[in-house]
Amino acid sequence: MIITIDGPAAAGKGTLSSKLAEKYGLAYFDTGMVYRAVGLQLLKNNVDLSDIATAEKRAEELTFPKMMELSKDRDFRSAEGGHAASVVSSYPGVRARLLDMQKNFAKNPVFADGTPANGAIYDGRDTGTVICPQAEVKIFVTASSEVRAKRRYDEFIAKGMSADYNQVLADVKARDERDANRKDAPMKPADDAVILDTSDMSIEEVFNKAVEIVEAKIK
Ligand code: C5P
Repeated sequence: MIITIDGPAAAGKGTLSSKLAEKYGLAYFDTGMVYRAVGLQLLKNNVDLSDIATAEKRAEELTFPKMMELSKDRDFRSAEGGHAASVVSSYPGVRARLLDMQKNFAKNPVFADGTPANGAIYDGRDTGTVICPQAEVKIFVTASSEVRAKRRYDEFIAKGMSADYNQVLADVKARDERDANRKDAPMKPADDAVILDTSDMSIEEVFNKAVEIVEAKIK
């Protein structure tokens, strides 16, 4: 079974995807990681984010193990890392070079320790539309920009990182804008996706609703 969970930054996709992966015994691919891996390499080497050729080169060379290695860096999940990911993800040449790596995971899904899985759950922006249009279950998770900014802000603080709510909100809005206006893969729900607005829902409520959606689809 393939499940895709798409939606804007900080809508709760990661938490929901991990919980669903555990419940259904699926491998989990957080596709934002491919863009974070490319963006981080530019940041670490002081390469300007506008250097499209270098971003494309880093995307071309990216492998799954390399991405996992880069994900251990403290800045991988930082606000700067998220910003860099968002910028490089807007380059069509970067997206094109990262397509096969993302699509192939569905053919050969593996857990974090390398053991094979019977299916996968994808989390991203375009996984139900571009990466896995064949997925059996597609959920588009969303929430108001204020709620999402508050969640992201709380995450940074919980990790001991410094953060400013208004800055996080501005960043969430800027990322939405870039994600929505990409010509090759604009962030939008697939025609057959179920839309889940989590603004007024707890993590448990979101999970229970998503399980209902999955059960209804696979019946
Ligand atoms: O989800 P996450 O915040 O880790 O994603 C980092 C950035 O990568 C996002 O802001 C988005 O612009 C980009 N992204 C994308 N397509 C995906 C996943 C993430 O463009 N499938």
